Amino acid sequence: MKTITIAIDGFSSTGKSTVAKQLANKLKYIYVDTGAMYRAITLFAMQHDLIGKEHLDKTAIIAALPSLNISFKYNEKVGFAEVFLNDENVEKEIRTLQVSQFVSIISTISEVRRKLVAQQQEMGKSGGIVMDGRDIGTVVFPSAELKLFMIASAEKRGRRRYDELIERGDDVKLEEIVENVLKRDHIDSTREDSPLVKADDAIEFDNSDMTLEEQFDQIYALVEKAIGC
Ligand code: DC
Repeated sequence: MKTITIAIDGFSSTGKSTVAKQLANKLKYIYVDTGAMYRAITLFAMQHDLIGKEHLDKTAIIAALPSLNISFKYNEKVGFAEVFLNDENVEKEIRTLQVSQFVSIISTISEVRRKLVAQQQEMGKSGGIVMDGRDIGTVVFPSAELKLFMIASAEKRGRRRYDELIERGDDVKLEEIVENVLKRDHIDSTREDSPLVKADDAIEFDNSDMTLEEQFDQIYALVEKAIGC
């Protein structure tokens, strides 16, 4: 069977990573969560007090980039590759609301984007990959064989992210999650460098009123078509 590149973009909490993981497991492809890479750099910046509510030390963040090594290691127990920052597993730390509150700002820094895009292109150079993010179909893999652009109502998206954080045991309020999701959408789609936009040849997929099973079946049919089965 031909191996392809599957690019999944879309707004925050539209279920990109859920379907990407399902597809990668089914097709035995590599799955790369590019948001996790931006989150890992954000975590580093927070740990070193390079970003906060009132400050952003862009120069120091850029200077630190060569020393930051982001990698993924597959964890059989969870069924996907977890993210490591300089050999430390940061999978849990990068999912907090605090990281979500700063990650869109960090993602506007062109030097950060250049480093991560180069690494993403290297990871996907042989195909057989499902990658999700904001600029995968437009910048990272503009010639991907299948591009999806996921959308869902803000209400559904806020609720999904809230349920995830509550399940992890975080103490959060639904209103602050919805506010964060909308704020990130705004920054992500209006930034100068590689804003979140639907690629001309991407298929828009609205999963607001769909079960996970329905979503997977419909998307898998698109994959089969792209592979040429
Ligand atoms: O997918 P996520 O919610 O974990 O992504 C976190 C943030 O990272 C998102 O708000 C914007 C940024 N991001 C990006 O700019 N480009 C990507 N390819 C992936 C994520």
